[in-house]
Amino acid sequence: MRRRIVFLGPPGAGKGTQAQMLAEFLGVPVIATGDLLRAEVAADTPLGRQAREFMEQGALVPDPLVMEILKRRLAQPDCEQGFILDGFPRTLAQAQALEELLGPQGRAIEAVLELEVPEAVLVERFSGRRVCRHCGHVYHLHTHPPRCAGTCDRCGDALIQRADDTPATVRTRLQIYHQATEPLIHFYRERGLLHRIDGSGDIDRIQHATREVVVAQDDTQGA
Ligand code: AP5
Repeated sequence: MRRRIVFLGPPGAGKGTQAQMLAEFLGVPVIATGDLLRAEVAADTPLGRQAREFMEQGALVPDPLVMEILKRRLAQPDCEQGFILDGFPRTLAQAQALEELLGPQGRAIEAVLELEVPEAVLVERFSGRRVCRHCGHVYHLHTHPPRCAGTCDRCGDALIQRADDTPATVRTRLQIYHQATEPLIHFYRERGLLHRIDGSGDIDRIQHATREVVVAQDDTQGA
């Protein structure tokens, strides 16, 4: 079973949704750099104050800041048996830094799951996305609604719309994905780690496809 996983895909592809479900199946934590950065911003830490401006514009936060919070999180004991990275790496420099960090520890990434979703579908997903302001669980008004409108099924706190889910910011985030993050598809394919998964359609069906990759005993499914 693979337990050190990266989710790759454009904003709104469903990385967070699928990562949370896969984490429950594998019993490992999700490390979502977007969530970690939002927590730093909310706590008004020095790092959060530096990151805020980039995030509000939909731009990438500079690599050194992201590496700092990632290293801190990966050093925690709950990551020893594995982890799922959601939203990291996003640049070639981050992917190389990750290899340098994990390789010598014998904890190299075992699979990269790329969620493929047409752009028109992504735009619809942003407009309906709601997240729990306390635990961060992700919902959609139409495709994945909470049991009680406006309230998180898990912790009962209020659901909110993310500040960077505006149409203008979404356009910027998609552009940046194509420029800075898409080259990682080639990077991981060369390493035999890439698995492409159709990220449109039913959430449970997509989860089934991700689990098939994770439980596969060999690398012959690499795309
Ligand atoms: P981040 O929080 O990582 O955002 P993102 O990558 O833009 O991805 P999203 O969270 O928007 O989408 P997702 O793919 O997780 O989709 P979701 O599951 O929510 O980053 C935010 C910002 O932080 C960045 O812009 C940057 O500034 C900074 N940052 C973070 N990491 C960084 C890094 N490594 N380097 C530099 N800067 C960094 O699903 C979307 C919606 O669709 C939901 O409503 C969901 O319910 C719904 N949905 C999901 N799947 C389906 C389905 N199959 N069918 C129907 N609806 C679905």
